[in-house]
Amino acid sequence: MSHKRVLIIGGGAIGLAIGWRLARAGCSVALFDRGRVGCSASWASAGMLSPLSEAQFEEEDLLHLGLKAMEVYPDFVGELEAETGCCVGYRRDGVLLVGITQDDLEYLKFRYRYQRELGLPVTYLSGAEARSKEPHLSAQVSAAVWCPGDHQVDNRRLVMALKRGVEAAGGEIFEDAAVDELLIDGMRVIGVRVGEKVHKGDTVVLASGCWSRLMPGLPDSAKPPVRPVRGQVARLGTTREFALNTIVWYSRVATSTVAYLVPKGDGTLVLGATSEEMGFDEDVTAGGMFELLRAAWEVVPGIYDLRVVESMAGLRPGSRDDAPILGKTPVEGLIMATGHYRKGILLTPLTALTIAEVILEGRTPEIIRPFGIDRFGL
Ligand code: GLY
Repeated sequence: MSHKRVLIIGGGAIGLAIGWRLARAGCSVALFDRGRVGCSASWASAGMLSPLSEAQFEEEDLLHLGLKAMEVYPDFVGELEAETGCCVGYRRDGVLLVGITQDDLEYLKFRYRYQRELGLPVTYLSGAEARSKEPHLSAQVSAAVWCPGDHQVDNRRLVMALKRGVEAAGGEIFEDAAVDELLIDGMRVIGVRVGEKVHKGDTVVLASGCWSRLMPGLPDSAKPPVRPVRGQVARLGTTREFALNTIVWYSRVATSTVAYLVPKGDGTLVLGATSEEMGFDEDVTAGGMFELLRAAWEVVPGIYDLRVVESMAGLRPGSRDDAPILGKTPVEGLIMATGHYRKGILLTPLTALTIAEVILEGRTPEIIRPFGIDRFGL
C-alpha cells in the first residue's frame, strides 16, 4: 500500500483512470476538473479503439503503444466493471475502412499495403464483400479494408464508471475547480492552488488535455507542446430497421474529410469527426456538420431519415508529433499524462497502468519511454 498524496489536474478519461488506479493502490488522491468530470473531449469521443484503422505512416512507436493498449483493455474493463457494477459497453465490432472514388481507392490501397507491411491483420474487400458485412453501405462503395481487431467502448459509460471507481476507492473529486496555480519549490512540485485554497501533494499529474500547456506555474521546460484540435460530432437515433453491424470509416480524399459511424449500445449512432485548428473554440458549425453529414450519407445513405439527437464539439489535445506525452518531467514529482490527441479513449487503460507504475514504483515502463516530454528538447 502506498500512502502518497497525489493531485490530478484534469478529470477526463485519462485523469480519472489514473486516479482510480492510484486510489485503489492506497494513495490519497484528489482530482480537480475545471468543469464536470468526463464532459469535455472524453464525452465528445466516439469511443473507437482502432489502432489498426488509424495506423499512420511513420508512427510505429505509437502503433505499438495502441496495440499494447488493446491487449490490456479487456482486463482493465473487467476490473472496473466488477468494482463499480457499471457496464462500459466494450464491443469487438471491427472497422470497415471504405472508399468510393478512384482517389479514395488509391489512398485505401496505399494504406492497406502499409498495414500489411506492419503485419496487421487486415483484409482487402470488394464493394460487394464489404456490403455482405455491412448491408447498409451504399452501392457506390467500391472497396474496403476490414479491420476486425478494432473494437469500441461506450466512452460516456467509461468515464462515469471511472468516476464511481475513484470515489469508491476513497479518492476525492473536485468539480468546477480549475487549478489556478501549480506550486513548485525549487524544481520540486509541492501542490496546487485552487482559488484561495492550497492543496499539498507529493505528486501532481497534469492530465488536462489541450489546456495542459496553460497551467500557471509550469516552467518552460515542463510545458507540454499541446494545442486544441476541434472535433465536431453528431449523434443520430437509429430505428429497428436501421442498425449498423460494424463501425464504418470513410476518408473522403477529395475534401480531406473523415467520417466514421459508430453504432452504440443505447441505439444511437455517433458520427465523427471534423479536425479543425480553431484554438479553444468549441462551437458546432453549419459547415462542420455539413461536411460530416455529407460524407457519412455518401457511404451509408440510410442515415438520411434518422433523427439528430445531439451535436457537440470536443477539443483533442494534439502534440507536435501527434503522440501522447507521458511520464516524469524536469520538475520532481510532476508527471505528465497529456497530448493523447485522437487516441485518448484507446490509451486510457494503458496510460493509467503505466503512470501508476511511474508513481508507485518510481520506474518508467519501457513501452512509454519514447513518449517522454524530453523528446521535444524544451
Ligand atoms: N479517434 C478519432 C478522432 O479523434 O476523431
